[in-house]
Amino acid sequence: MLTQDAIKQKLGIYAADFIKQDMRIGLGTGSTVYYLLKELGKRKQQGLQFTAVCTSLQTQNILTEEGIDFISLDDTERLQLTIDGADEADAEGNLIKGGGGALLQEKIVAAASDELIIIIDEKKNVQTLGVFPLPVEIISFGWKQVQQKIETTYNITAKLREKESTVFITDHKHYILDCYFNSIENPSQLNTELHLIPGVVETGLFVGMATKIITGFADGDIKIRAV
Ligand code: A5P
Repeated sequence: MLTQDAIKQKLGIYAADFIKQDMRIGLGTGSTVYYLLKELGKRKQQGLQFTAVCTSLQTQNILTEEGIDFISLDDTERLQLTIDGADEADAEGNLIKGGGGALLQEKIVAAASDELIIIIDEKKNVQTLGVFPLPVEIISFGWKQVQQKIETTYNITAKLREKESTVFITDHKHYILDCYFNSIENPSQLNTELHLIPGVVETGLFVGMATKIITGFADGDIKIRAV
């Protein structure tokens, strides 16, 4: 049986095969994508060329370590493919993302891509989204009002994310509320409703954006589903 980390590594290497010569690609964020980035570092040395756009500072730093150049999303045409991780994926391929705090840029890059491939281990496939707390990125000004609005509207807990006992600040200098919905029956509706609250910048609900989900299993198997 593979460890969680070994599954992630296998997924990262497997996903690298989808990146072909001279493609314009978006590169996601997180511990699964980390292995994809390492693999791309190797393949670049073997001659693979591509134009990369990053979804976070974390990914930019790893690419720098790997000697891979990246450009701004504003300096390229539409991307052909983005590969990213996720925190949960439902049967229709709707996702919760943002466990690592990069949801805003991840969603912008995903929306600018013709294809979005998601790499996850088997535990992240769920029937209904919501056991993983939904990250909602918000403006820091007046954040308590937004927290209160979400908590009273949905009768849930919305916790201000912290890191090492201080408020977690995103790459774009915002806060994150982790919202404990437990079960999200209608992700599209919830995404729309949350966007109507003044102060909400983006939600971690990626509805109808993924085109393929690649799942890694502890027995070493990998399965692809088109969504
Ligand atoms: C980053 O903000 C997230 O959306 C990640 O893509 C997601 O949390 C998956 O990360 P891991 O691969 O580390 O679980």
